[in-house]
Amino acid sequence: MMIQIKNSSPVKLSGNCLVVPMLKNNRLTSIAAQVNEASGGLLHQLAKKSGFKGEAGSTTVFHNLSGIKALRVMLVGVGNKNEINGKTTRDVIEAVMKRLQQENCTNAVITLPFEETAAEMHYSLIRETTLYAENAIYRFDECKSKPSKETLVDKITLITSGIGDQYAKKAVVHGKAIADGMKLARDLSNLPGNICTPTYLAGKAQKLARKYTKFSSKILNEKEMEKLKMGSLLSVSRGSRQPAKLIIMEHKGGGKDQQPVVLVGKGLTFDAGGISLKPPAKMDEMKYDMCGSASVFGALQACAELKLPLNVVGIIPSSENMPDGDANKPGDIVTSMAGLTIEVLNTDAEGRLILCDALTYAERYNPAVVIDIATLTGACIVALGHHTSGLMANSQNLADELIEAGNQAGDKAWQLPLGDEYQKQLESNFADIANIGGPAAGSITAGCFLSRFTGDYTWAHLDIAGTAWQSGHNKGATGRPVPLLLNYLLNRAKG
Ligand code: BES
Ligand code: MN
Ligand code: ZN
Repeated sequence: MMIQIKNSSPVKLSGNCLVVPMLKNNRLTSIAAQVNEASGGLLHQLAKKSGFKGEAGSTTVFHNLSGIKALRVMLVGVGNKNEINGKTTRDVIEAVMKRLQQENCTNAVITLPFEETAAEMHYSLIRETTLYAENAIYRFDECKSKPSKETLVDKITLITSGIGDQYAKKAVVHGKAIADGMKLARDLSNLPGNICTPTYLAGKAQKLARKYTKFSSKILNEKEMEKLKMGSLLSVSRGSRQPAKLIIMEHKGGGKDQQPVVLVGKGLTFDAGGISLKPPAKMDEMKYDMCGSASVFGALQACAELKLPLNVVGIIPSSENMPDGDANKPGDIVTSMAGLTIEVLNTDAEGRLILCDALTYAERYNPAVVIDIATLTGACIVALGHHTSGLMANSQNLADELIEAGNQAGDKAWQLPLGDEYQKQLESNFADIANIGGPAAGSITAGCFLSRFTGDYTWAHLDIAGTAWQSGHNKGATGRPVPLLLNYLLNRAKG
């Protein structure tokens, strides 16, 4: 989709639809008053007659208003003036895009309530409009034999009168890069497990490295991982015919001495559970067990697009988890790269087995912080549902920064405790540590397991089991937590 900004009067622009914000109780925003005036007062009269109330996200459409060049005018409610923020903007833009689609519009001129909001809010208004307009037209039809006949919005003009072209442009560029990062994450995640294998993901990393300068990739195969003694990771892939890969991507936007942010993403391209086989219902959704790695791809691509002045490393342990004669068996004991021995009491707790070796590998980058992102536990869905990602950290400062970044981006995370009292649940009679901690606090004991492998660096863990994809009628990847990660990185680049 093409998104352009214009500084001119919206009533003089041609197009399928001019979108105008209205306040609660049908009160005109400043920009709506301008449009109303051009229509000789007709717009407001029609709005009153139609019973339009200006509730946030409600829309109404009028055709062929005199004085207005666009074919239609869409009024969209934004609620009360003091309620306009990033979140309401996202809801409003989703409603607008849905209505444009229903009206078969392929382009629109969108005005925003700048006069009604503080200057600090203007960046968010533009960025979130760009991001959620792009998100709304996302479709995944790569695996359909014929392309869909649906016509989608392909051009949006944002009216940015009076707020500075450079500023507006930056917000659009940021919104677009995050949207493209989410699209990449969603595309990779939605691909089926027979196409999106560890080898496929490795190829994708190499493609990104060819596309961007200051960007490199390195792929370790099983032999190379053996040399590094990644016995835990390799024990998971042993049960699969697809060879595991350790995928490393580097965006080198910062100075030589700047310590990198390392993002570690769980890349389980299919999780059948292994010998501790999962039940059949919804097992297809375990192709999404690589959504953590997909978000690392999305975030790194956005860093490259934006040329962020940061060093960012992505590390993706990628494998399948299958039942097989050579697969891990419950009770097996494996030795991790860190030297800790692990009793595999449940082969379905495999995410932590591949992540632990990747976390040890991360040490060699002398990281400023390490953030791992993983569809790690069903228990996280029980605790937080599908709206909020789970967050655990060994640094309250990093936890606070990530929570704040998520709140700003409408991609929320909620912190769970990591205490020594929970660590006890991982005791094993036979090895240094067990890979499960029993039914109580399953997300926390998974976090505790990872925490044993974080050396002495600053670390946070995002459990995205509930937020990375949707089930049922709307089955599909969400692209989360790319917005949270990018907001965190943008905040870091600023400070
Ligand atoms: N990938 C799953 C977690 C998961 C399950 C995410 C359902 C989203 C939806 C993970 O590998 C897993 O199987 N975890 C087990 C851990 C248990 C054996 C301690 C789980 O959550 O059941
Ligand atoms: Mn599993
Ligand atoms: Zn898994």
